[in-house]
Amino acid sequence: MKYADICLRFCMVPLRKYLESCGCDPDLIALIRLIARQMDPIRKAFLENQTYEYSLNASGELQAQMDTWADAHLIRVVGESGLVRELASEEQEHIIRFDNSRREYAMVMDPLDGSSLISTNLAVGTIVGIYEKGGVLQPGSKLKAAFYTLFGPLTVLVVSVGKGVQSFAWDSESEHYVMLRESFTVPEGKQYGTGGVRNEWLPAHTKIIEFFDKEGFKVRYSGSFVADCHQLLVYGGIYSYPGSAKSPTGKLRLLFEANPLGYIIIQAGGRITDGEKNILDIIPEKPHQKTPIYIGSKGIIEKIEEIYSLS
Ligand code: F6P
Ligand code: MN
Repeated sequence: MKYADICLRFCMVPLRKYLESCGCDPDLIALIRLIARQMDPIRKAFLENQTYEYSLNASGELQAQMDTWADAHLIRVVGESGLVRELASEEQEHIIRFDNSRREYAMVMDPLDGSSLISTNLAVGTIVGIYEKGGVLQPGSKLKAAFYTLFGPLTVLVVSVGKGVQSFAWDSESEHYVMLRESFTVPEGKQYGTGGVRNEWLPAHTKIIEFFDKEGFKVRYSGSFVADCHQLLVYGGIYSYPGSAKSPTGKLRLLFEANPLGYIIIQAGGRITDGEKNILDIIPEKPHQKTPIYIGSKGIIEKIEEIYSLS
């Protein structure tokens, strides 16, 4: 079936048309669509790349074959695009510079978030943040666009260019993304997920979890940040990965995980905090900087900040 036919068949807006209707720079549209299209080869590569490497990334985590495959693939494609001046990847120790690029976009990415779940065939995805210019060490509030993809039954792309949040699904027949949902508002759901080890939590985090349990919240935690955030985008609630005495800044990375998802969830009316402040206001000092994270429904995040302020 032809691309035009599929749009007619489903009355769905294609990704390109949607981005054009937002008034995005044509090069930004080209960059988002270019990366989004790589989800097809990335999805296909899972079958032959099911194992884990004997290597560690810059944060000391075991790399899956797919982590390094997706990372190398995206670096090559982004480099060849001529659109990106600086690229920081969760799988690369150092910032990559493309000095000959014709545009100055700066891009941060987690090529495959949740990769410890590959061997369990649960949902994983790619996270991307794009700054217009000025390098990758900028606060998340300066992002021009952010998106993530999720490999579930569908390959879904969730994007914000500062005009709310929209989702698109990859149609493998027409080889285009078509709109699934034109807007999201994070509801005040009653579910939570928390990382870390209970007997290592700091007192404020323990109080927060006690509060959720008292209020009858359900537990939802898959081990894939991008999948858990997608769930709270739809149903509300929160995802958290707190700091601990052993690891005061927690596990998640400011640039590659917290900022792009925070940008998207705030665009959908939700919030993100490290317990004390909006994570998007943090000025990064280094690419692999970590932060404690609470992300989700506005009312719950306000309650969490209140508990922190009293602890
Ligand atoms: O990238 C970090 C990550 O894999 C997240 O996707 C996920 O939420 C978290 O780590 C899981 O960590 P843990 O296995 O400690 O619960
Ligand atoms: Mn990750």
